[in-house]
Amino acid sequence: MSSMNVLGIETSCDETAAAVVRDGKKTLSSVIASSIKEHQRYGGVVPEIASRRQLEYIQPVVDEALEKAGLSLKDIDALAVTKEPGLIGSLLVGVSFARALSAALDKPLVEIDHIKAHVYANFLTDEQPRLPAVGLVVSGGHTDLYSVRDVRVFRRVGRTRDDAAGEAFDKVARVLGLGYPGGPVIDRLAKSVPRTDVSFKYAALEGTLDFSFSGVKTAVLYHRQKHGNKDHYPVAEVARAFQESVVEILVIKALAACRKLKVRTLLVGGGVAANSALRRRLLEEASKEEIQVYFPAMALCMDNAAMIAGLGFHSLN
Ligand code: KG4
Ligand code: ZN
Repeated sequence: MSSMNVLGIETSCDETAAAVVRDGKKTLSSVIASSIKEHQRYGGVVPEIASRRQLEYIQPVVDEALEKAGLSLKDIDALAVTKEPGLIGSLLVGVSFARALSAALDKPLVEIDHIKAHVYANFLTDEQPRLPAVGLVVSGGHTDLYSVRDVRVFRRVGRTRDDAAGEAFDKVARVLGLGYPGGPVIDRLAKSVPRTDVSFKYAALEGTLDFSFSGVKTAVLYHRQKHGNKDHYPVAEVARAFQESVVEILVIKALAACRKLKVRTLLVGGGVAANSALRRRLLEEASKEEIQVYFPAMALCMDNAAMIAGLGFHSLN
C-alpha cells in the first residue's frame, strides 16, 4: 500500500496549528503559533482576539508545516480539520480554510472531534497502545472518561459536573496571582517544595465516574482570603496541595473506570496530561494493577494538529 500524507489543521482556541502526518503514525512536521501572550493580561482567552489571530496565522502556519515536512501541496493526499468543540470564531477559520483548500486541491477532507484527537495523540508512535482502552481527557475545557473501543468509537462514562481540571488550574493560578495559563506554573511551583502541610479535600462523588473541581477551587480562594495578608503566604505549598487534590481524584476515577470496563489500557490526553505529578502518580498506581498507561509526548498533550491529522487518516478509510 502506498503511504498517505494527511495535512491536519487545528484552530479550536488560541493556537493555530498545522501538521503533516504519514499513515496516521509518523509526524513529518507539526507547527504551532499561539496568541497566548495577548490573552495573559485578561487572565483567560478572549475569543475575539483569538479568532483575529487565527485569520492572520493560518496561511503562514500551513506553509511552514509543508516546508518542514519537505512537501508541497501536490504531495498531500487528504486534509483533516478540527470541527468541534472550541471557540466558534476560531473553529470557523480552520474549517473554512480547510474546506476551501480541499475544494481547490480536489482532495478529501475529514472533520475531526478535538476530544477524540487528544486521545489519539497516544497513537502517534511506533508502539501502538492496545485497544479497548479507557480514555481520560483532561484539558482546559474538558475532563471526561471514555470507553474507547476503536480510535473512532468512544462512549462517555464519566465527566466533570462543573469545572474542567485545566480550568481549575487556571482559576487557582489566578487566585494565587500566578498568571495564565495556570497549569505549567502550578506544576513548577509544586515541585519547588518537598511537601506541604496544607491539604484540600477532593469531591469523591462515590459510586460515579464523575468529577467536580469547583469545591477545591473555592477552598483555595477561601484559604487565600483568610491567610493572604500574612507576610509570607505559602503559595508553593498551597499550589502543591491543590495539585495533589486534583491529581488524586483523577487517578482514583481513571483506574476505577479501567476496573469497571475490565480494560488494561489507559490513554491520557489534553493539556493537563503534561502535569508531572499526574504522570508520576498514574504510572505508580496503574503498575500495581498491571494497567498500561500512555501519555502523549509533551508537545502532543497541548493543542496541536498532528493529533488531528493522525486521527484523520483513520477516518478516511
Ligand atoms: O488541551 P489544551 O491545550 O487546550 C484545551 O483543549 O483546553 O489544554 C490547556 C489546559 C490549560 O488549562 C492549562 O492550564 C493546562 O492545560 N495545562 C496543565 C499543564 N500544562 C497545561 N495543567 C496542569 N499541569 C500542567 N503541566
Ligand atoms: Zn485541547
